[in-house]
Amino acid sequence: MAAKSETTVPTNPDSYLHNPVFDLFSLKDRVVVITGGARGIGLALGFAVAEAGGSVAILDAAPQPHEHYKKLQEICKAEFYQADVTDYEKLQATFDKIVKDFGRIDGLITAAGVCPDQAFLDRDPRDVERTFKINVFGTYFATQLAVRQMVKQGRRSSALTSGAGSVVHIASVSAHEAPKLQLTSDYSSSKGAVLGLTHQLGSELASMGVRVNSISPGYILTDMSMALLEQRKDVGEVFVNAPAMKRMGDRTDLKGAAVYLLSDASAYMTGSEMLITGGLHVT
Ligand SMILES: NC(=O)c1ccc[n+]([C@@H]2O[C@H](COP(=O)([O-])OP(=O)(O)OC[C@H]3O[C@@H](n4cnc5c(N)ncnc54)[C@H](O)[C@@H]3O)[C@@H](O)[C@H]2O)c1
Repeated sequence: MAAKSETTVPTNPDSYLHNPVFDLFSLKDRVVVITGGARGIGLALGFAVAEAGGSVAILDAAPQPHEHYKKLQEICKAEFYQADVTDYEKLQATFDKIVKDFGRIDGLITAAGVCPDQAFLDRDPRDVERTFKINVFGTYFATQLAVRQMVKQGRRSSALTSGAGSVVHIASVSAHEAPKLQLTSDYSSSKGAVLGLTHQLGSELASMGVRVNSISPGYILTDMSMALLEQRKDVGEVFVNAPAMKRMGDRTDLKGAAVYLLSDASAYMTGSEMLITGGLHVT
């Protein structure tokens, strides 16, 4: 016969009175690793973490970060680590170095990603494999390495959450619907896999105090989308007019969501997705 489980039913409905909202959003003393943070969405979310009081470890394949990184270093403890998320040994060594340099890991944002634009029937197997290696395996193993450290550290003593850490996957609206004019078969399917990982880990890691959620952006103005706009002028019209709000997203539009998901403000949220698309997914 299975052992009878002990259930503790809470009895104090007044704790909200002692948890002011700006305290809940604070990332003070938290260390957040950001893959793909040398530029684009990842770098902007590094500023969000810093502005909320946290420290930032950026991990990226690029040889050096965007010039804005210097400004980030002025407002928080920040370090840049060059590593390719598809090289597991290097990734593991980099996470070890981050723990040595910062002492802990409280949060992870997986923003490293690529978005090839080519017809399905022309895709070369090696190119498709590369997309999956970066977008899926890179996300998977960065999450595994970060969560191992979070679990090792154990739960924080914060009264409300007593959580051990929070992971934010950057997925995409493309996991839900085919983008108009863009040919992104491997990208869209890879982001579907990222969402599947979010759901599974939201369930599997909850008992360890680790929360896992996703942000799925719509069309956001970054180096990635600007490079595409240079090759495909026709896509610009779609980027502006397809969302219900008739504008492209700015990286600023994602900052609050990232801080919310990393912080105690979202203490009861896991395995979920925030679609930030200007209404693209409901048009
Ligand atoms: N920009 C958008 O409109 C948009 C929309 C939805 C989702 N996204 C997702 O957001 C994430 C960031 O996109 P972005 O627009 O900022 O792109 P970006 O190209 O500006 O930045 C991506 C970063 O990832 C890094 N990177 C690429 N391959 C890597 C690897 N193998 N190892 C480590 N780092 C690697 C790049 O060097 C770069 O710094 C991506 O996952 C992308 O799919 C972007």
